[in-house]
Amino acid sequence: MAQQRKKLFIKTYGCQMNVYDSERMRDVLAPLGYEPADEPDGADLVILNTCHIREKAAEKVYSELGRLRPHKDAKAGTKDPMTIAVAGCVAQAEGEEIMRRAPVVDLVVGPQTYHKLPELIAQTHRARGERLETEFEPVAKFDALAGDRAVEGYSAFLTVQEGCDKFCTFCVVPYTRGAEWSRPVDQITAEARMLASKGVREITLLGQNVNAFHGAPPSGREADGPWGLAKLLRHLSLIGGLDRIRYTTSHPNDMDDELIAAHGDLECLMPYLHLPVQSGSDKILHAMNRKHTIESYARVIEKVRAARPDIAISGDFIVGFPGETDKDFEDTMQAVREINYASAFSFKYSRRPGTPGASLPLQVDDTIASERLAHLQALLTEQQTAFNRSQIGMRLPVLFEKKGRLAGQLHGRSPYLQSLHCEAPAELIGQIAEVTITDASQNSLTGRLDAKVDAA
Ligand code: 5AD
Ligand code: SF4
Repeated sequence: MAQQRKKLFIKTYGCQMNVYDSERMRDVLAPLGYEPADEPDGADLVILNTCHIREKAAEKVYSELGRLRPHKDAKAGTKDPMTIAVAGCVAQAEGEEIMRRAPVVDLVVGPQTYHKLPELIAQTHRARGERLETEFEPVAKFDALAGDRAVEGYSAFLTVQEGCDKFCTFCVVPYTRGAEWSRPVDQITAEARMLASKGVREITLLGQNVNAFHGAPPSGREADGPWGLAKLLRHLSLIGGLDRIRYTTSHPNDMDDELIAAHGDLECLMPYLHLPVQSGSDKILHAMNRKHTIESYARVIEKVRAARPDIAISGDFIVGFPGETDKDFEDTMQAVREINYASAFSFKYSRRPGTPGASLPLQVDDTIASERLAHLQALLTEQQTAFNRSQIGMRLPVLFEKKGRLAGQLHGRSPYLQSLHCEAPAELIGQIAEVTITDASQNSLTGRLDAKVDAA
């Protein structure tokens, strides 16, 4: 008998790992007859895959739950009531509080238990009771999620590592995602091969601390002991069809020489490195428990640039961390001037309950933090625009991913992860073609297709 079709709406907040997890949730729920829907109205199951990294991100979840209420009420008492689940890091950190604050929620599921979603949903349906699933069991999670994946497009995420043992004093990740854990190389390779067989040309290896990767070696190579990220990259580079590999996010202390060398000689490793520094002041870096100095960070960047001179460097910054003075902030501005970023993400410090930073004295006044953020962002925007404009006139290989906003245009990505729009035939979607850059702005490039490549 054909299975009854049900509608599944997932709203994803936060990082790329959440995007990856949402796709996996879709995959485990597909055999139960759940099909993706574009809106919550009328959905049988709504999942909010949440982010806890900053306070604003967590509060958004409660606002969304308020908006979902009428949708759920509209289906209440019918034969298909709406089930609402909260997944992700807010679920991990505030499971019980969610149930208390938002009775509209049926189910709370932490990041390591998505493979149990079908079972939990079945239980909820049976009992309409409350279930809390927020324990850490990454091994079980990936074993259960290891099968086939629905793939959309030509660029895909692949989680290789989860969690973090660094305990930066501002960060919730070690509490919400748990201790660092790496997937075995064979399992990652199988997933990468499967992606390539479905036409994927570019993979981005994900991990909260991806360059701390230390996965079990492939079978037959047990004597090697755990493999680091550099070995994994070289191994994956041999998979036919995968033309581009990226990885994110990294910690400066885990940029070992082998990984830096890979940036010099591994052709498919794209010339882009996201390496958060957070602050340019050693005093603040120490208070953040970053375990590096601005000098040691700059040395890593120098080595990476020596291996791959054109590499685009990207970073994360936090302003207004407790105790940050005008002088500390100026040190951050000076570090940015010296390093010169191609792109960056910058945030005002958000006090996260339970992290050591939350109880530090000298929390910075919000107005001052906002002013500092505006200054820093102006400088980073200037650098990003200059980087993009420096490519006008160059020829770059572009992976076309989808149609652009204007008719006749396609959207793609340069090796440096820049967005690019260009007039090109739709057959080039999924292909890499040479484009001459004709214009550039803060957020994207415009180009001219050099030669119409035969898409066959
Ligand atoms: N406040 C502000 N920004 C934060 N980040 C992580 N935790 C916080 C916080 N409590 C930023 C860091 C990190 C990025 C993912 O989010 O810059 O690298
Ligand atoms: Fe958080 Fe990154 Fe620090 Fe780990 S290394 S605690 S994920 S900021």
